[in-house]
Amino acid sequence: MKKRLMITVDGPAGSGKSTVSRILAEKISYMYLDTGLLYRAIAYRAMQHGISIADDEALRELCDGINIPLETCGDMRVLIDGEDVSDNVRTEEIGMLASSISAVPAVRDALLPLQRSAGKHGGIVTEGRDMGTVVFPNADVKFFLDADVDERARRRYEQLIENGGNANLDEVKQGLKVRDYRDTRRTVAPLRPADDSVVIDTTGIDVEGVIEKMTIIVEKHARQAGS
Ligand code: DC
Repeated sequence: MKKRLMITVDGPAGSGKSTVSRILAEKISYMYLDTGLLYRAIAYRAMQHGISIADDEALRELCDGINIPLETCGDMRVLIDGEDVSDNVRTEEIGMLASSISAVPAVRDALLPLQRSAGKHGGIVTEGRDMGTVVFPNADVKFFLDADVDERARRRYEQLIENGGNANLDEVKQGLKVRDYRDTRRTVAPLRPADDSVVIDTTGIDVEGVIEKMTIIVEKHARQAGS
């Protein structure tokens, strides 16, 4: 594939988008941008420093301290004030706080140029909630992944157990529902499929199956783009 496409992947928590986006990026040697990690980093720092989600100014300052070393393929890392917090932020607690903080317009405004600058040369798979609708509306290929809430809860639960954590399936499911509600109902950049996105319901499909579907679509676009 010669043309460096811009590929976006949006969807609710537990839809499988992080796993498939990372694998797809590796498969086609593209960069991978996990934008949820940015909101998680802000949430983590806000929690550490006791910053309220009503304090726009302090949150904006936190956003100024974000840095993404994008030269690497594979797993994405995020630095905040020079500290790599990537391994501290993938908990349910931080996910929930990130969901609240991501509804703050000042935070979304501050993170927008950072995300756009990361994707400006194409050759990237970006995943989040508003990639195809707001951050990269002119992307070459847009995916929206979904799955029913029971399956998403089961996947998330298994992931937490695999990572050595304690989890309760019902609590995980309730947490997902709360996040779904917030992420889809907020006034700024709510989660929804872009009109020109390819929607894939991943319920009952394994990771390889989803990657296969996505690869076929990406290759078709690459051919149409003349590569
Ligand atoms: O994808 P994730 O679970 O790591 O994201 C954590 C939260 O961050 C999610 O509940 C909503 C928010 N988020 C967002 O609002 N926009 C994005 N592009 C990515 C994540």
